[in-house]
Amino acid sequence: MTEPLTILGIETSCDETAAAIVRRHGANVPGEILSNVVFSQIEEHAPFGGVVPEIAARAHVEHLDGLIKRAMKQAKLGWDDLDGIAATAGPGLIGGVIVGLMTAKGIAASRGLPFVALNHLEGHALTARMTDALPFPYLLLLVSGGHSQLLVVKGVGHYRRLGTTIDDAVGEAFDKVAKLLGLGYPGGPAVERAAKEGNPARFPLPRPMNGRPGCDFSFSGLKTAVRQTAENLGNLTDQDKSDIAASFQFAVADVLSERVENAMALADEVIPPGHRRLVVAGGVAANMALRQRLMVSAHACGYEFVVPPLKLCTDNGAMIAWAGAERLSLGLTDTIDTGPRARWPLDPEAAPARGAGVKA
Ligand code: KG4
Ligand code: ZN
Repeated sequence: MTEPLTILGIETSCDETAAAIVRRHGANVPGEILSNVVFSQIEEHAPFGGVVPEIAARAHVEHLDGLIKRAMKQAKLGWDDLDGIAATAGPGLIGGVIVGLMTAKGIAASRGLPFVALNHLEGHALTARMTDALPFPYLLLLVSGGHSQLLVVKGVGHYRRLGTTIDDAVGEAFDKVAKLLGLGYPGGPAVERAAKEGNPARFPLPRPMNGRPGCDFSFSGLKTAVRQTAENLGNLTDQDKSDIAASFQFAVADVLSERVENAMALADEVIPPGHRRLVVAGGVAANMALRQRLMVSAHACGYEFVVPPLKLCTDNGAMIAWAGAERLSLGLTDTIDTGPRARWPLDPEAAPARGAGVKA
């Protein structure tokens, strides 16, 4: 289709209900975000210390229509101004995915608009093109509550996975550590806050996978070591908690930077000089200590370091609208009978693994 393309994007795969309108003017130009509204369900899940799928699906049903109306109003657009509708079709919590997908299909069918069923991970993967007009290929570290993956982003729909977690995702590890230290939910920001007051050298925690070839991650052994450390201390003072948080975060930084350095060495084969950029996306990219370490690693390997603004790193509708626009610009649309998918890896040739397109 000819550009500019104005797309409504809908995201409901986890605990954020989101709608946004983005305009794509063409290749090599950043996208224009006309509106981007996100309703975070954090308060509804906080009493349970994690996302409850049934509560999430109900909250999406309650909030989605209103959010779409707000997104249209803020963008000052009517239905006739849209060129297409994109919605996350997976991977994610299936009840929530169905809510967003059915809503998008209903609008597309009633308005006669092209429809794009999107892989949520592709939304994260292409965000840096919306914000920084990044050309293909580039290296992506995707770190959130559901994924820890290293991917070469070669083109729309073309991804090569270099590594993934073989157990927990890194955000999940932050959440679990926060829970066992009694720091609250969501865990990542709480652990980062506590770590600021702590001594990262007090507890020598393991660095799973370090020294091994390849780029896979593992975090469950680190989480278990944190639990044992806490149990051995018994009653934890605030200083103990801060020291554990700092030691944990330091270990994660070591693991991520070592894995990313391996990935850059491998990616050198497929990413030519002049394209060597490391993009970090996902909620964990909010962590300043981790960002700092990853930036140092990137620069040491001759890579530019790119982190999209935080509100575009965590789940949002703009990334879905943008990826929809990218697909539409290539004539890639989906039929109205496309179904939701709980699992949907970006690189179908990579071996199945828990963190690779399994959870949102
Ligand atoms: O991308 P996201 O909003 O949702 C998905 O999981 O798709 O990521 C949420 C995750 C949570 O596990 C949260 O604890 C983590 O990102 N996170 C952080 C920080 N802020 C959010 N982890 C470490 N440090 C942070 N400052
Ligand atoms: Zn996500």
